[in-house]
Amino acid sequence: MQKFIVNGGKKLKGVIEIKGAKNNSLKILAASLLTNKPVRIMNVPEVEDVKRMVEIIAELGVKIKHVKNGEYEIWAKEIIDHSINSEAAKKLRASIVLTAPLLARLGKVKFPHPGGCVIGERPIDIFLEGYRALGAKVNYKKDLYEITAPRLVGTKFVFRTPTVTGTESMILAASIAKGETVLKNCACEPEVKSLADFLNSCGAKISGAGTHEIIIKGVDKLKGGAHRTIPDRVEAGSFAILAAATNSEITIMNCEPEHLDSLLELLKKAGAKLQKRKNSIKIIPSKIKSLDIKTHEYPGFPTDLQAPFCVLLTQSKGSGLVHETIYEGRLTWTEELKRMGADIHTFDPHRIGIKGPTKLRGREIESPDIRAGMAYLIAALCAKGKSTINNVYQIDRGYEKIEERLRKIGADIHRI
Ligand code: EPZ
Repeated sequence: MQKFIVNGGKKLKGVIEIKGAKNNSLKILAASLLTNKPVRIMNVPEVEDVKRMVEIIAELGVKIKHVKNGEYEIWAKEIIDHSINSEAAKKLRASIVLTAPLLARLGKVKFPHPGGCVIGERPIDIFLEGYRALGAKVNYKKDLYEITAPRLVGTKFVFRTPTVTGTESMILAASIAKGETVLKNCACEPEVKSLADFLNSCGAKISGAGTHEIIIKGVDKLKGGAHRTIPDRVEAGSFAILAAATNSEITIMNCEPEHLDSLLELLKKAGAKLQKRKNSIKIIPSKIKSLDIKTHEYPGFPTDLQAPFCVLLTQSKGSGLVHETIYEGRLTWTEELKRMGADIHTFDPHRIGIKGPTKLRGREIESPDIRAGMAYLIAALCAKGKSTINNVYQIDRGYEKIEERLRKIGADIHRI
């Protein structure tokens, strides 16, 4: 098992480039199965979750080629299997999105409860309700769901809670269903909009993506196409937080600052100096004051940036309350941050208080999930002395060659 050795406490400086969004790439890969024509996807990050998704898709009998770094070609001329590989699906929540094209094209799909980050219960009840609303039948036997529908039929569906992968799956399923589907209380994340843009470029008729109401007029077939994924807003946000936490000057290139409005507003309010350009953000060293954060669906403060922001609060002056509203298990990682010297009080599974600034000490830490892994990395870069981060597979799931990119801005980090 690989690990990172980090010698922290150094100021960083330089330019870091943002890769394509993992959570957009995984869904565009799944969407490519809706058409029997070739699709090309650009700006795909070379991360472990993408590799797992590619393996699952190849096992379904779909031709998928890694053309070059960041680029894939998929041709789902035929899909020979309707069962999603259980072992792989348990590693990856996004595998659930594959259920939609399989159901829409083959009329059936078999899959296990998907895995992914252990950050809370993560049910799939809304997906099942959505597919039922489109006319499908759901069975659960021997730990596997089997969903069948000779042809999906357009419907009106209101999401009980806005779910990102749920909204994306319903868009996919409804794109080639018979008739019109109206989705309400949809997730508005930029990744949802990018997915709809791709499908529309292939001939789908989707309007309203990026808002709470999406209307999909089903078409019989989609053509092939090409799509460039959007920049990873979580990666860009994590580097902005890293700059503020280490009091460093870092320019984040090839990002979409508009996708980070909630974070950038908070950083400014906390005293961070930053320069926003069309596709870049420069963070300039400044004194940071604590403030409270509450995670919220887009365009609110993203739950995926909660962990890095907690580390920043350990380096900020004053006290801040962190309220994680989306997941019930996404604050447990802070126990290890306390052992690094952070002054954190846990009120309940959704709320912690952080007092700063505190000096963090290097430690041996285990990366529990993608975003907490990134937070430990930021904490290790802030800390005095040496840290060892175990289980870096979790970080590699979401961030491409992170140690090489951090070294370029002066970080003392090595993979062993
Ligand atoms: C997506 O997960 C992302 N994953 C997550 O990123 C991200 O944290 C999350 O959206 C929120 O922004 C991918 O895109 C692959 P949800 P998703 O369904 O879609 C409840 C990362 O680190 N819910 O929007 O699985 C759910 O429990 C990952 O890259 C139901 O109750 O999240 C949660 O409280 C981690 N029933 C809320 O909805 C359902 O059937 C929102 O979750 C589905 C969801």
